[in-house]
Amino acid sequence: MIIREFLMRHWPLYGLGITLLIITDLLSILIPRTIGRAIDIIGGNGDVTDSLWFLATIAATMAVLRFFYRECIMGTTRRLEYFLRNQIFRQALYLPMSIYDEAGPGKLMALTVNDVTSVRVAVGLGIMLLVDAGIMGVVSFTMMFRSIDPTLTLVSVLPLPLVFIATAVLGRVVHERFRRVQEKFSVLTEFTQELFGGVKVVKAFGAEEILTARFADVNRDNMTANLALAEIQAVYIPITHVAPLTCYALALGFGGRLIIENRISVGDLAAFTGYLGLIIWPVMGLGYLINIVQRGRASWLRIRDFLTILPYENRSEVGDSSTPLILNGDIELRDLTFQYPLASVPSLRGISLRIPAGSTVGIVGRTGSGKTTLLRLLLRLYPVPDGKIFMSGEDINRLGFVRLRSAIGYVPQDAALFSATIGENITFGQPYDRQAVRDAARLAVVREDIDARAEGFASRLGEKGTRLSGGQQQRVAVARALIRRPALLLLDDVFSALDYRTQAELIDNLHEIEAGRTTLIVSQRVAAVKHAPIILVMDEGKIAEMGTHDELIDAGGLYYRLYEQQLAAGEVS
Ligand SMILES: Nc1ncnc2c1ncn2[C@@H]1O[C@H](COP(=O)(O)OP(=O)(O)OP(=O)(O)O)[C@@H](O)[C@H]1O
Ligand SMILES: [Mg+2]
Repeated sequence: MIIREFLMRHWPLYGLGITLLIITDLLSILIPRTIGRAIDIIGGNGDVTDSLWFLATIAATMAVLRFFYRECIMGTTRRLEYFLRNQIFRQALYLPMSIYDEAGPGKLMALTVNDVTSVRVAVGLGIMLLVDAGIMGVVSFTMMFRSIDPTLTLVSVLPLPLVFIATAVLGRVVHERFRRVQEKFSVLTEFTQELFGGVKVVKAFGAEEILTARFADVNRDNMTANLALAEIQAVYIPITHVAPLTCYALALGFGGRLIIENRISVGDLAAFTGYLGLIIWPVMGLGYLINIVQRGRASWLRIRDFLTILPYENRSEVGDSSTPLILNGDIELRDLTFQYPLASVPSLRGISLRIPAGSTVGIVGRTGSGKTTLLRLLLRLYPVPDGKIFMSGEDINRLGFVRLRSAIGYVPQDAALFSATIGENITFGQPYDRQAVRDAARLAVVREDIDARAEGFASRLGEKGTRLSGGQQQRVAVARALIRRPALLLLDDVFSALDYRTQAELIDNLHEIEAGRTTLIVSQRVAAVKHAPIILVMDEGKIAEMGTHDELIDAGGLYYRLYEQQLAAGEVS
């Protein structure tokens, strides 16, 4: 798998880091003993210069080693973090839309941000604590037990198991409450972000006070969670500070007696307290370590599950057909029924239809009748059953995503622009030249609007394309689709925010470029579709009527009624 690839490449550096860490830990164990000996030498009025040099050498070596092992371990974990984020992001973009319907962007955000961080902490800080606990704990204990005094050792470490249990139990509660704090905080940020984003609606509906009150609730939840955390920490932190003192007190009390009885030297006791210091922290940190490792493991499993979801959209897929097929926009639907993964009823029912290459199809129908769904399926944004949709005579499930989508120009119902310049929104990462961009904008009837701006095509848009009017956003989205010169153009309600003159101009331009291109125009407006040789009228997921404008008028059905209403309103002639 991809992770294995990463480990193979970075394992040597990481392994080196751990080796250096082990050496550092072993060196630090020499310190208490050396100090103890030095104290005894001083007690005997001897010369401690050698001991001092030795200590200085150890300290210097450890400083250098520390630098390198941190570089190796932390460097690897930062690279791992970078690597995982890239993998998750890419995977998220290649999953079908239903993932977004189900989990929402929030879950993907949590995966990319929180889970990756937990994994990094586990393989970085976690592994360092683990090695510390192992080496320092075991070796120091052995030194104390074997080379100083077994009874003194056992007496002094007596509180440690209790401390361990207490910190492990409390640590769990701390962790639980900490998670709550994070949860509440993310609710707070989401709430704030969403409302600041929709502030115009808040103002227009005079909802300032209501929402301020609701915010106060969310804010209070956040505070309560933080207070609960502070409370448990107020217990936890003193315990972790009192515990070592108890150990030292026992060591001094009992060790003092041993000195008086001449069973150990003053230097031995000094060395002993040094070792005790090396043991206490890893033991107290054990609860924390277990926590870090558990959290890292849970996050890792989530990431692994996510990364191993078989990408529905195979990124290297070029299509199964042995002969490359140039899509010409010829479409056939055979009894297509489709239900969204989370829906309880189908959104499309038994649609059968043949659209010859190069034709223009108008699609009307009341809201919720399945128009957008039909376009989404032509793009395979959702899994399409086999044998239902054919393009240029080939099942679209066998065309490959790259080939299928590069043949399609799609303008979604919400323009879906991004925070970049207008020009960048139109080219969308492709290397089109300036003239192509201007031409596309002209065809989309938005060039004059753009030229009228001080910075023209270089004007930056805000998030989701703000700083343009709704109709301008729609037309920039049309330009983004037209510049690709697609064989199949899918326009989802792109006239909804346009005045009639602009609409007529855009329709004229679409005619101009229609030659050889299949165009599907979804609209509520008869004026936008009446010229189309085929008009579909959708109703409750079915094709209710189909024909030319004149035929449908004669039939006197849904289309006729729609026409009549718009005629009365003077919207169509
Ligand atoms: N992602 C989704 N998950 C579940 N159901 C959905 C989803 N998107 C749309 N639907 C449902 O599918 C049906 C058809 O929706 P669709 O968006 O295709 O309608 P539409 O004809 O484009 O309507 P409008 O004119 O309002 O854009 C609706 O009942 C809608 O509630
Ligand atoms: Mg729609």
